[in-house]
Amino acid sequence: MKMSASAPGKLLLLGDHAVVYGRPCLVTAVDLRYRATVETLPGDTVEILTPQLDAPRRVIATAVGSSAPRETAFVEAAVARVFERAGQQTGLRVTTAGPPLSYGLGSSSAITVATVAALAALLDLDLTRAEQFALAYDAVLAVQGTGSGFDLAAALYGGTLYFVTGGKMIEPLTVPHLPLVIGYSGSKVGTVNLVAEVARRREQRPAVIDGIFDVMRHLVEDGRQQLVAGDWSAFGELMNLNQGLLDALGVNTPSLTRLIESARAAGAAGAKLSGAGGGDCMYAVHSGKVDTIAAAISAAGGDVVAVPVHAPGVRLEDAI
Ligand code: PMV
Repeated sequence: MKMSASAPGKLLLLGDHAVVYGRPCLVTAVDLRYRATVETLPGDTVEILTPQLDAPRRVIATAVGSSAPRETAFVEAAVARVFERAGQQTGLRVTTAGPPLSYGLGSSSAITVATVAALAALLDLDLTRAEQFALAYDAVLAVQGTGSGFDLAAALYGGTLYFVTGGKMIEPLTVPHLPLVIGYSGSKVGTVNLVAEVARRREQRPAVIDGIFDVMRHLVEDGRQQLVAGDWSAFGELMNLNQGLLDALGVNTPSLTRLIESARAAGAAGAKLSGAGGGDCMYAVHSGKVDTIAAAISAAGGDVVAVPVHAPGVRLEDAI
């Protein structure tokens, strides 16, 4: 028996970092799809093949997820959670695949969700999306100890979502075509380090940082209305305000600033970093000037990531 599932990456639109602290965010799924294929093997060994490993990692089913290397940590944590939920363990081969460049657009969350979905199907576990979210979120917290889960929600539900920390609310939004240009700024500091850095600042000045997060909540609530209405000039203004607050949190970088400023100068209604910051991606909103804005981002040293957004969520695929 063999099962395969694919899941999309994500682009955080508004509410970055605040969503770790009980506030909402807006996120859209991006059509960079990651795939997990699972098949039963005789015996009790779980074998994992990922593009990052030269040789498969083999681990006894009862030990899957413990002391996993970085390359297989999310897959193993997902497998361990589904085994636990199913009340059974089997010999297994898990193979993951996906675009070689992920641009920080959610490869780990997509692979975690695809693994949960494929393995649940293989073991005949009928899980709701909320149950799949809970298992995947548990897996991610076991690996990295922190995170709001917004990326897992995007991988599971697809589309564009209003999301509150830990999946307290996951609301799919009906939105018009999103006129976005995504720019990749280069390498980054890991998300976990940036989340820890913001936590440190919040410990030093709780009232100030919580105040910033509260303003972000307002930006997200307002942004949700503008997004649904397709008012890109209003949405862009909210993006620019959000960018100022992320700068205040200390997660902006000079290269992100260059890309953001060049997009604005080329006519973008708004531009901001997306996600934890420290590098990775920014995005701009435009109304009809996509080529000029994309050219400006490239000229400022960014890689334009031409990928559809509002992508479909996790789905089972033909196993090959
Ligand atoms: O680094 P990314 O793109 O995965 O985004 C992290 C977003 C944070 O809000 C900083 C963390 C989180 O889990 O919500």
